[in-house]
Amino acid sequence: MKLLNNDIEITKYKISTRKIAPKKQIRIVLVSDLHSNPKDVRGKLISKMVLEQKPDIIALCGDIADAIRPCTGAMQFVEEVCKIAPVYYVTGNHECRFGRYNEIIEAFRLRGVALLNNEYQKIQVNGADIIIGGVDDPFVGSIKPELDWEEEFFKAFSSLNAMPEYKILLSHRPELVALYKKTPFDLILSGHAHGGQVRIPGILNGLYAPNQGLFPRYAGGLYNHGGKTHIVSRGISYKPMPRILNPPELVTIDIIGE
Ligand SMILES: [Fe+2]
Repeated sequence: MKLLNNDIEITKYKISTRKIAPKKQIRIVLVSDLHSNPKDVRGKLISKMVLEQKPDIIALCGDIADAIRPCTGAMQFVEEVCKIAPVYYVTGNHECRFGRYNEIIEAFRLRGVALLNNEYQKIQVNGADIIIGGVDDPFVGSIKPELDWEEEFFKAFSSLNAMPEYKILLSHRPELVALYKKTPFDLILSGHAHGGQVRIPGILNGLYAPNQGLFPRYAGGLYNHGGKTHIVSRGISYKPMPRILNPPELVTIDIIGE
């Protein structure tokens, strides 16, 4: 086992639900925390790996661009994955920093990404009706100080309670579990924690994560919150902090009708 292994791992999850008709199936590929990896070769490798998973939907869960790095890597990656399947995206804290929010989301939109900012779409995938929603990272408050993030979040999705479809939320932050539990979503997809940087399989599920501190509870993996499924990607970038026993991760999720 290599301590510093930056080869990308593919983690696969299967979720079953009665909200989708029996035998119908949807595959989501989740990518988070690319951090605008500037190496063209690696960006192309990641989009090739996404293609090989044959996704129906691609979910980008924030920090695809980076606050201080050039956006070239992020833009190239987004261009590539938009050719594969519909791409749904939410911002992370990095896209909300240093005044580049508008520039980044506009560039992503131009390349075909559907930005979900306190909004949702009803879509049909492989004959199954689902709802996919998303929320800006709370750091957006630094550029929109008038915004009450929590209030807007609940307001945006309150009408979903009465809807029978399977509901998916993209939200960069894994630690906001208390809020997610109050929403109508069945599946929440997050990133941000980078797997807690240091992991010891079977012993330590992450040493440190932003906004969670030491020994983070939601560093990466699948969590169950009273019937809601929460999948936290360990992220796909290996910079700027080294990752120990914590390879970058691409996630596939199969949602299967019961
Ligand atoms: Fe983040």
